[in-house]
Amino acid sequence: MHSESASPETEPNEPILADLIDDEDGESISGDMSTVSITSSILAYRKRYGRTYENSQSTEYWAPNDAQQNYGLDLTHVGLFFTLGEKLFLAPVEEPKRVLDIGTGTGIWAIDFGDEHPEAEVTGTDLSPIQPAVVPPNVKFVIDDCLLDWTWPEDHFDFIHIRAMYGSVPDWVDLYSKAYTHLAPGGWIQDLEMDVKLQSDHVKLTPDHVFNVWADAFYRAGQKMGRSFDICKGHTMRDNLKAAGFVDIVEKKIKAPMHLWPSDQKLKRAGELFLEALEQSVEGYANLLLMDLLGWYREEVEVLLGLFRKEMRDKSKCAWVET
Ligand SMILES: C[S@@+](CC[C@H](N)C(=O)[O-])C[C@H]1O[C@@H](n2cnc3c(N)ncnc32)[C@H](O)[C@@H]1O
Repeated sequence: MHSESASPETEPNEPILADLIDDEDGESISGDMSTVSITSSILAYRKRYGRTYENSQSTEYWAPNDAQQNYGLDLTHVGLFFTLGEKLFLAPVEEPKRVLDIGTGTGIWAIDFGDEHPEAEVTGTDLSPIQPAVVPPNVKFVIDDCLLDWTWPEDHFDFIHIRAMYGSVPDWVDLYSKAYTHLAPGGWIQDLEMDVKLQSDHVKLTPDHVFNVWADAFYRAGQKMGRSFDICKGHTMRDNLKAAGFVDIVEKKIKAPMHLWPSDQKLKRAGELFLEALEQSVEGYANLLLMDLLGWYREEVEVLLGLFRKEMRDKSKCAWVET
């Protein structure tokens, strides 16, 4: 009936074939109800470290919402499209009438889905009003905090899509339970979460390698916020969906490559897009979490970012992240 999209037998153990021959380098929300309209306070973004952040009064989100970060989100969207074999989703959804994209970001997935399914009415929600004004007629965006009580009718949606909400959700079973309540019987949910750790099948990365130092810092930050960054690890997502009442759960573990190292042309393209997305996003990822939350000095963060950028740009690392 309901599903999450990868299964224990599809752990991401299969290495991606590498191609290292060429040299390319490369309004305020009141009460505890969701779905409110935009007021000036939501548009008055918080400014920090030369970047802007959303200004919801109910939930603070850890990454910036400015043009640079949003460009990274759009690049990641296209990278995931290629990683999923030029698909927007893997759940076996057929002729959906009502679709909800929670934490839609720039709304790029909702817009692409709306174009692909003109028969569907697609709603994207987010804390930040960062979605374009001109969208397909069957797509709309609403400022909505998914952690509050949902105001959508029950048994309403045919498909609920969640992507990259890691570090934003204190209780995943609660979020999935809300989705279960508001999905029509026979509806589907798909959640695609990404790890923050870059790994490699081709190069040994020691525990003190910057990819591991980076990931450990984010895992610590997630623990401190009570909003985990390692939600896609193990079978946590599958278990949470099951606890929320979902059945027919399919768990898929997929490697998203970083850089142009894969020999498969679609994955090579994905890797190129993920690398550029990370170029745009790393600083924004680090600011609030490492400095404000973990108390690092700016200089320490700059050093980490420098090392991280150097290594992520090294194609020979053949790096990938688990999704
Ligand atoms: C990493 S971005 C992913 C955006 C989009 N899902 C995608 O894959 O392109 C996470 C998004 O979740 C939004 N978000 C975080 N907490 C939220 C909440 N409680 N309710 C609604 N949106 C939230 C953020 O504002 C941000 O746009």
